Amino acid sequence: MTLSSAPGKVYLFGEHAVVYGEPAVPCAIERRARVGVQRRDDGKLRVRADDLSLDGFTVEYDGTTEDGPDIDVSKSLVSAAMGYVDGAIEQVREVTGEDDAGFDVTIESDIPLGAGLGSSAAVVVAAIDAATRELGVTLETAELAERAYQTESRVQDGQASRADTFCSATGGAVRVEGEDCRTLEAPDLPIVIGFDGGAGDTGQLVAGVRELRAEYDFAADTVEAIGDVVRNGEDALADGDIEEIGRLMDFNHGLLSALGVSSRSLDTMVWAARDAGAYGAKLTGAGGGGCIVALDPTPETETALSFTPGCEEAFRAELADEGVARLE
Ligand code: PMV
Repeated sequence: MTLSSAPGKVYLFGEHAVVYGEPAVPCAIERRARVGVQRRDDGKLRVRADDLSLDGFTVEYDGTTEDGPDIDVSKSLVSAAMGYVDGAIEQVREVTGEDDAGFDVTIESDIPLGAGLGSSAAVVVAAIDAATRELGVTLETAELAERAYQTESRVQDGQASRADTFCSATGGAVRVEGEDCRTLEAPDLPIVIGFDGGAGDTGQLVAGVRELRAEYDFAADTVEAIGDVVRNGEDALADGDIEEIGRLMDFNHGLLSALGVSSRSLDTMVWAARDAGAYGAKLTGAGGGGCIVALDPTPETETALSFTPGCEEAFRAELADEGVARLE
């Protein structure tokens, strides 16, 4: 068996605007998806997923998700998760030239699904890495990131930026602007995450912003303003100025909220963090529900969030310096 892991991420700045060519700065965190892969002789794909916030399921099939695994969890979540694994394996067959390769795939993840922490990107990065290595091919990080992006892009009907997949493959804080992806120097950030237990529909939220942007010039200006916040955020990161990074995160949340992608629970958690003295707080990822990210070196924000109605889980997250990790 070959085993790889890859980290999830938070967006310090720039989600949604990155879809329209503005820069974004995601940052990898020490919450990982681990994917184990074993080659099969019969060309079939068998996937077992535990802890995917999905109750655990096992599926055996040789086609695509349309065959419909018959299991007792939300169909859309399962087909989403299966779609990503399918897409990853398709990339593996393409890059290795082994069109008929079959696999047993085991997924374990401590990244909540669809909550803005990059769970799908982490699964795709780890799956491609483990399955290619299982066939004797080790991809360079840049190619791994690109293949993972192609997978996400196909599963999400072309509505994906390179941010999640590049960040998960390389680790650390990164800057993504269109096809230009690079690693950034970042200070040690005191990251606290609040999770409302829910998930937003990325496709729908991205479509909502697209419509607003087409209808109102001021919405298009808001997207551009997010780009300006990101550029200021890069300077603050380079200076190691955590106070300024926090202030800009607050601003970024306000602009995302104006674009309609926040929610009551996300706003409540953001305000709980601010009231607790965090340097700043914002939603992370597509929004609609899921997670917020705050900066606070003291225990106050984590404690405040854990007592906030609507916050299901609050935890501190270390920055993950390592992206994909080759475990076995
Ligand atoms: O919620 P997530 O982690 O899938 O993040 C989505 C981020 C968007 O900018 C809204 C879309 C994208 O692909 O960049």
